Amino acid sequence: MRVPKVLGLLALACFSAGSLHPRNHETHDYYAIHLKPDIPPQEVASALGLCYEGKLGELPDHHTFSTPRTQGHRAEDKLQDLRRRRLKRDISEASILDGILWSQKQKTKPRMEKRSVLPPPPIRQGPPADDKAAPAPGVPVVTVPVADADAVAERANVARELSIEDPIFNEQWHLFNTMQLGHDINVTGVWQQGITGEGATAVMVDDGIDMYSEDLKDNYFAKGSYDFNDNNPEPKPRLADDRHGTRCAGEIAAVKNGVCGVGVAYNARIGGLRILSKIITDEDEAHAMNYAFQDNQIYSCSWGPPDDGRSMDAPGLLIRKAMVNAVQNGRQGKGNIYVFAAGNGRGSGDNCNFDGYTNSIYTITVGGIDRKGKQTYYSEHCSAQLVVTYSSGSGDAIHTTDVGVNQCYSNHGGTSAAAPLGAGIFALALSARPELTWRDLQHILVLTGVPINEDEDWDTTYIGRKFSHAYGYGKLDAYAVVEMAKSIDLLKPQAWYKSPWLHVNHTIPQGTDGLLSTFEVTEDQLKTANLESVEHVTVTMNIQHTRRGDLSVELRSPTGVVSHLSVTRKLDDANAGYVDWTFMSVAHWGESGIGKWSVVVKDTNVNEHNGTFTDWRLTLWGECTDPTDQPLFPMPTEHDDDDHTVISASPTLVSVKPGPAETATELPALPTDHQDRPIKPKPTTPQQTATAATSGSALPDSPPEEDETDTHFLPHYFPTFGVSKRTQIWIYGALAIIVLFCTGLGVYFYIQRRKRRRSEREDYEFEMIEDEDAMLSGNGAASGRKKGRRAGELYDAFAGESDEEQLLSESEKNEEEYRDDGPAVGEAGRGRSQSREVEK
Ligand SMILES: *[C@@H]1O[C@H](CO)[C@@H](O)[C@H](O)[C@H]1NC(C)=O
Ligand SMILES: *[C@@H]1O[C@H](CO)[C@@H](O)[C@H](O)[C@H]1NC(C)=O
Ligand SMILES: *[C@@H]1O[C@H](CO)[C@@H](O)[C@H](O)[C@H]1NC(C)=O
Repeated sequence: MRVPKVLGLLALACFSAGSLHPRNHETHDYYAIHLKPDIPPQEVASALGLCYEGKLGELPDHHTFSTPRTQGHRAEDKLQDLRRRRLKRDISEASILDGILWSQKQKTKPRMEKRSVLPPPPIRQGPPADDKAAPAPGVPVVTVPVADADAVAERANVARELSIEDPIFNEQWHLFNTMQLGHDINVTGVWQQGITGEGATAVMVDDGIDMYSEDLKDNYFAKGSYDFNDNNPEPKPRLADDRHGTRCAGEIAAVKNGVCGVGVAYNARIGGLRILSKIITDEDEAHAMNYAFQDNQIYSCSWGPPDDGRSMDAPGLLIRKAMVNAVQNGRQGKGNIYVFAAGNGRGSGDNCNFDGYTNSIYTITVGGIDRKGKQTYYSEHCSAQLVVTYSSGSGDAIHTTDVGVNQCYSNHGGTSAAAPLGAGIFALALSARPELTWRDLQHILVLTGVPINEDEDWDTTYIGRKFSHAYGYGKLDAYAVVEMAKSIDLLKPQAWYKSPWLHVNHTIPQGTDGLLSTFEVTEDQLKTANLESVEHVTVTMNIQHTRRGDLSVELRSPTGVVSHLSVTRKLDDANAGYVDWTFMSVAHWGESGIGKWSVVVKDTNVNEHNGTFTDWRLTLWGECTDPTDQPLFPMPTEHDDDDHTVISASPTLVSVKPGPAETATELPALPTDHQDRPIKPKPTTPQQTATAATSGSALPDSPPEEDETDTHFLPHYFPTFGVSKRTQIWIYGALAIIVLFCTGLGVYFYIQRRKRRRSEREDYEFEMIEDEDAMLSGNGAASGRKKGRRAGELYDAFAGESDEEQLLSESEKNEEEYRDDGPAVGEAGRGRSQSREVEK
């Protein structure tokens, strides 16, 4: 490939920095580019006048390039020039364009929020020191439980037997609770077998960890650690509030050594990846999420998009690629374990299905309960939550390590503190059984979660496990997890079945009626998909609505298990609806998947805000039938959710008859401390059966009622179809079939037109964008479909659809657009990132 000499020199001049990941988002722009394997990245750098920064983490054939801001749009100009030449068939120089499969200009992303609870003060400093403690002045006696003498003695025996001399071990009630017996992670029996995390490695993806703390030093894993914020091999806390990562790390693997307390897996190695202390880009985060992924087995993440009851944000494409890469190639192919804090937004009416990290099938979402085993005011509910474990509330918090040589902390809380306890337990499981895959571990949690507060809202799943949207499959029991880890049969590889896009295009009725759309999965389809048994279920959907928070969505499986994929959010005023948003449920684990799956979309708030249910698509993920014939899931692309898959013409639409009126939600008030919230006993839910669902007889709904104030999802019923109703249904049914046929035709033409329009629009935008810096300074917070597409857009024009490509016929385009290995159509914001809706 001929490269102009001047540009070659410019490119060479860039190679100066010695450190692994030199990034300066104030002075430079960065580009992530996916190249064909045989294209040397240096040639691309030369051709475009960019600096080559190196491979993009562990992502195959992905590279990072940079250019100083001062050089303005030189690369873009060069690109324009190349495209012009290609048009003129000056192929030799322009051929570099063909080596670029995908590219994305990096924009700085809104900072992820740490999920510790604010305001944090508990009622008292630490728990009453065991049996002999007198209640602190001013604290009502009733709130101070009395330690059980036998339990205290037993704990002392365990400590003696294991030589635990750490001074705050007795405060670490989450490890051994002597007051609320049974309300701990039940770990001492695991330690007594000699399983203490040896051989396991976890890493805190956070604001750094204090590797010089006496409580962490001996377990610190330098090789798996890096500071992505300050480009330093040591992810030390550097800012005043860089304490979160250290506290979380102590929960996982604080050393058993006479300093502070012990971690759940006190002989595991613990590393740190510092990403939360400065502005970063998707490229940095993707790099971090794959960092040393053969050695870092578990990535513990106690952060996410804001839990404000308004945000709806998912990881960008590069990060999603990194996560798929990790589960397929990390940990010698067994897959890395991502642990995420469920989120602290319950008080704001938030739900972890509005967070694309916690609702990813690749993450284990862990919620928090308090030392009495009660629900907390902060821990979010959702159908994607697998388990819960202990954290702050009921006047106490988690006692752990702090930043400093010998500093302890007694007030660690929020779901931030729950997730690392999960990570510690998973480290024990991997220590006992290193060959567990990422899915085996999730499977173990489905089977070992311990239901709590069973008078609340629990359903029985198809395989007879209890599931609750508040607690997932229940609380973690370290002993049960490790015992099952030792003996469980490993799962066969993952298979999946994707339904076609199901076009509904129907106004959503307001009030208590819902819009029901059904898709039937056949045995043949699953046979073709090589799918034997369902694990995760995802539903990707598009709904237009002028007030997103008014919407709720439930998913009903063929066996009658109900997942509340989405709930109304009082604070979510976004005029946005859902745009290619993917919800997830773990409640259908173990179902066959065969039969009718329905979604019910509701708009319970009768007001001037209304909307249309556009379309949805069901994906079943699970264990394959024939392991010899199962490929890996393809890397995500920008076009996974585009409308070009087969379009089904026959979703059925039924109006759901109202049950008891759904009243306006009163959100739980935000307490100023961790005082208990009374929990109202829930009515027992009648068993739901498949026959009830398909016969159209009364089907009780079992919503995730949260507490006494949250009557939001009171039961309602499917149509009882009394005789007169039945007649109506016949009429509506016949009409629906006619309308659907016409709609089918309409959809086809509409899609064709939309495709043409989209490509026209892109070229238009490409020409119009002048000021890229404006996008960068806009920090990417607001986007929406248009904006999301514009941001980082220009560089996608590398892979962009040139005029030449537009000459391709529609069918050629269709085939090419959906592969990462064909010329991609430049649409940076398509897919998940566009779901960053404008918030008001
Ligand atoms: C807790 O651990 C003990 C052994 O230490 C075990 O006997 C018990 O069954 C465990 N609890 C649960 C719920 O598995
Ligand atoms: C939605 O609401 C607007 C304003 O109230 C109204 O004009 C419009 O007809 C409604 N659309 C539907 C489909 O109900
Ligand atoms: C959706 O329905 C409306 C009428 O309700 C119709 O005008 C429109 O063409 C339909 N869109 C598609 C894509 O079918």
